[in-house]
Amino acid sequence: MRDRRPVGDLAALLGRCSAVAAFTGAGISTESGIPDFRSPGGVWTRYDPRDFTFSKYVGSRDVRLRAWAMRREFWATEPRPNAAHLALARLEAAGRSIGVVTQNIDGLHQAAGSATVAELHGTSREVMCIGAAPRVGTPDGCGFRASTRWAFDRIDGGEGDPACPSCGGLVKSATVSFGQNLFPGALEAAVDLLARADLVLAIGSSLQVHPAAGLPAAAARRGVPLVILNDEPTPLDVLATLVVRGRAGAVLPPAVDGVLAGRPVA
Ligand code: APR
Repeated sequence: MRDRRPVGDLAALLGRCSAVAAFTGAGISTESGIPDFRSPGGVWTRYDPRDFTFSKYVGSRDVRLRAWAMRREFWATEPRPNAAHLALARLEAAGRSIGVVTQNIDGLHQAAGSATVAELHGTSREVMCIGAAPRVGTPDGCGFRASTRWAFDRIDGGEGDPACPSCGGLVKSATVSFGQNLFPGALEAAVDLLARADLVLAIGSSLQVHPAAGLPAAAARRGVPLVILNDEPTPLDVLATLVVRGRAGAVLPPAVDGVLAGRPVA
């Protein structure tokens, strides 16, 4: 159903639920100044994702240097949670949401105060040892893990491609690159969260990348109401109980605040 009164219809659905699971993509963070991937000007319209696969990262110092430069560019903006992140945290604090499954690596849901966040694609706030020659797609490190600041300090100190201080292996952001397997337990945690939901609220995702996009689709096929709040159409719109075309930061906060105040929303 295409939405005529975006905020009101979203609030009406949220108001009937007490176990909302949010499923977010890069679009919820664009209003924090972080570009998404597939919109005009998005990351994959400026960089070729085939250049940043896990095996290329392992095999090429040049790719690692470019990947660190991308990370620096990303964190130089010092992104902060926006009104949409904060609205989801309020919904959880009020006991109406059971948490967030996110494809994002920016940590902004946690920074906004969300307590239960399943990070399907890891986090760029930390780095990890992936070993000297990990098998295809699977990090094989010694267990070393540090904040991304640790890596930037070494890069600023002239070590362009920081090595693991414990075993000398390669160091990579604790994210999942194309061609890399999800971290053990990440998919299970996300599946568990959505399995307990009485409504799945997909926000700011093109819902094109699997296995992530399969999670809201499976919930909808089980009969769980799916709401999609997105700037543009997605392949899962046909499964949605409600499609809200609009900006997350403009639509979500008034809907959540109306629900929490117990008042009708126009
Ligand atoms: N409000 C609502 N929707 C928005 C907003 C906004 N403020 N800004 C952008 N969007 C929408 C865009 O129209 C787009 O459909 O969010 C969607 C973002 O889609 P993608 O850029 O494909 O990002 P995402 O779905 O998170 O990508 C999934 O792909 O490259 C991999 O690992 C990467 O996690 C990422 C995955």
